[in-house]
Amino acid sequence: MKSAVAGQNWLLRGARVVDPGRGLDDRLDIIVEGGRIAGIGRDLGKKRGKGLRIMELGGLVITPGLVDMHVHFREPGYEYKETIATGSAAAAAGGFTAVACMPNTNPVNDNRSVTEFILRKAGEADLVHVYPIAAITLGSQGNTLAEFWDLKEAGAVALSDDGKPVMDGAIMRRALEYAHSLGMPVVSHCEDLSLSAGGAMHEGLAATELGLPGIPGIAEEVMVARDLLLAEYTGAVLHICHVSSAGSVRLIRDAKSRGVKVTAETAPHYFTLTADCLRGYDVNAKVNPPLREQRDIEAVREGLRDGTIDVIASDHAPHAVTDKEVEFEYAASGMIGLETSLALSLRLVTDGFLSLPELVTRMSARPVAILGVPGGSLAPGAPADLTVIDLERRWTVSPEGIRSRSRNTPFLGWHLTGKAVLTMKGGAVTHSDLLRDHERPDQP
Ligand code: DOR
Ligand code: ZN
Repeated sequence: MKSAVAGQNWLLRGARVVDPGRGLDDRLDIIVEGGRIAGIGRDLGKKRGKGLRIMELGGLVITPGLVDMHVHFREPGYEYKETIATGSAAAAAGGFTAVACMPNTNPVNDNRSVTEFILRKAGEADLVHVYPIAAITLGSQGNTLAEFWDLKEAGAVALSDDGKPVMDGAIMRRALEYAHSLGMPVVSHCEDLSLSAGGAMHEGLAATELGLPGIPGIAEEVMVARDLLLAEYTGAVLHICHVSSAGSVRLIRDAKSRGVKVTAETAPHYFTLTADCLRGYDVNAKVNPPLREQRDIEAVREGLRDGTIDVIASDHAPHAVTDKEVEFEYAASGMIGLETSLALSLRLVTDGFLSLPELVTRMSARPVAILGVPGGSLAPGAPADLTVIDLERRWTVSPEGIRSRSRNTPFLGWHLTGKAVLTMKGGAVTHSDLLRDHERPDQP
């Protein structure tokens, strides 16, 4: 679905413009011309109104386009769960202008033809920038390193075997060294498979009561510790995926204080839900790493507050009903997240853990810096990738409202506050809830 309003020049009037990288948090106008930010300032309409379509955005917030550095678009191979086009539509609806997609497709993105295929499909959908993350090892089997240089040349921005850990420490060491020499981050899914083996949910009281085998926090923490030590030893750049446990937050905080080049991300479910959500055997709350305990939620929030955790990423992991509606232990892990990520993250602002500019940084400029891709700024001359947010908009997560091809979210029926009401990529509107109300066809 291409936007009907591409190629327009716009005057976006009267929004609260939050661009933390430039210290901006003020009521301003933005002019978009030729797909770029042409001007930003007060009362621009009086000086520059001619030939521009006007959107009155009083009461709304404009931020640099949001960036989700951890999503699973299931193409090639699992198009029944999500395609690059449907995933891109979900991303735009969630306020995102860029995503990085994980390589656990079929075939795995471990060679340049898959990377090129993803980029071509993303270009055809043309709703968000899609940055492929390529596999560390061939087939993500953990045995043989992929051709990082070739993958980088084809357009991969980082390396990960996400979904699986790299169990062999020597291979992880070589991966860190090789990736570092190419300026690419290694994005690590931290899980010691010998400690998580057979587990279906977090090890704790809820698992005992449900009679389900548990995955302890240390299955994650042992690998976080190993990877931090390898990053310290090699001097390479490490990014830790989906931090879910208090112990992981503590290890990363300690490593950062020693100067280890590590960044980390968490997902909204890890600061919102505990293993108690599984009490009704809700397969949509089955995710890997698993939802943990209240003290883990608190540690993850504190990690976000003090900067130990750099980024919020959704780990959008679409699965079809047929993958989920089986015995709990056999159900696929993962939940969709692109369309709920912003609203759930805004609760951190309401609850006083992050200011709005800090949240915007964690969802835009920080992932951009980690991946080394464009974006994260509303500076004049930059591509007009931006998100318009209604902080007051109340909405309910419903199956009909979801753009993703899958519906596997434990947040169905939740009443949320705050929504991306318009997303613009390169000056083209890729999602809008508001054109009819706010657009004025006339001149100022
Ligand atoms: O829950 C998860 N789902 N965790 C992962 O690491 C992979 C993901 C998926 O691909 O479904
Ligand atoms: Zn993932």
